[in-house]
Amino acid sequence: MTYFEWVPELDTGISVIDNQHKRIVEYINILDQAVREKDVSAVAEVVEQLTDYTVTHFTFEEELMQKHGYPYLDAHRKVHQAFTERVQNYKKRIDQGEDVSRQLLSDLRIWLTNHIKRDDKDYVEICNKIDHGWVSKAVSRLFGT
Ligand SMILES: [Fe+2]
Repeated sequence: MTYFEWVPELDTGISVIDNQHKRIVEYINILDQAVREKDVSAVAEVVEQLTDYTVTHFTFEEELMQKHGYPYLDAHRKVHQAFTERVQNYKKRIDQGEDVSRQLLSDLRIWLTNHIKRDDKDYVEICNKIDHGWVSKAVSRLFGT
């Protein structure tokens, strides 16, 4: 069974954002698999990739909000920062051999679901008039694709 199933309520309607969120969900499912297989080195590797990707995604979102003059950018950025610190703390504990990956998984699923539904959906109305040229430039600059 898939650990974190994508549900339509998670769609923001901004496809570039939805695709990035889906990628994060994919990483969470890969992490779940590695945890179930008790593959310690795979767990460490996926946590690293997931953290990197999520931080880049946060930067993309923040630039998008800034470009559209979203008034609550600072508050949203603080939420991203607090979450990044929390994940980095888990990462440190995992690297030190502590068995907290199940806790991390459940935290990730709950946090991401709430954050998308509440915080991310709040910027959609202002940010949905997407400038596709800007998006593709920002995506290749940040994600290197
Ligand atoms: Fe966000």
